[in-house]
Amino acid sequence: MTTKFIGNYYAGKWDSIVDSLMIKDGQRVAYGENFYKNVDGRFNEIINLWNEAGYDKVDTVEWINYYPEKDFPKLVVEDFEKFTGLKCARAWISRLRPGKYAPIHRDIDDDMEKYLAQGELIRYSVFISQPYVGAVVVVGDSCFHCETSGNTYRWDNFMDWHAGGNCGLHDQFMFHFLGVKHNG
Ligand SMILES: [Fe+2]
Repeated sequence: MTTKFIGNYYAGKWDSIVDSLMIKDGQRVAYGENFYKNVDGRFNEIINLWNEAGYDKVDTVEWINYYPEKDFPKLVVEDFEKFTGLKCARAWISRLRPGKYAPIHRDIDDDMEKYLAQGELIRYSVFISQPYVGAVVVVGDSCFHCETSGNTYRWDNFMDWHAGGNCGLHDQFMFHFLGVKHNG
């Protein structure tokens, strides 16, 4: 077991947020073109695995990230803090366009130290777009497909290996949250 179903969060409320992001650029991450800085080599393990598999020779590795306040209302994050009883260390919405993939990886980024400094990190993911056929997410040994909008899962370990691929006909959006317990 690598994830636990927590419930349906913001049932019926995600469509307008997804619609608003469809026309926003967001932060596009494309492997070999616009990737993380990797100044201290923290991505080397993932980069080596991807290159060995040949992902450096295709243009299908891409996802788009959106951030609270800049791209969507921070109320979403504040409400999710209440839902989980945690304080947000990091939250974002990911978008995977048809034909694009996030090959197996762990979520590291250039600012990991900032989140880790806040406490023990607990990871949640919410499927927020409608359940279109063909968009698949894998976390550890769990596979998710056609999840109802709002379905929310807590990860056993925020650093679990995971992947996503969209061989469907519609963009897939997910809300992600790294939280820490409140002090005291
Ligand atoms: Fe990821």
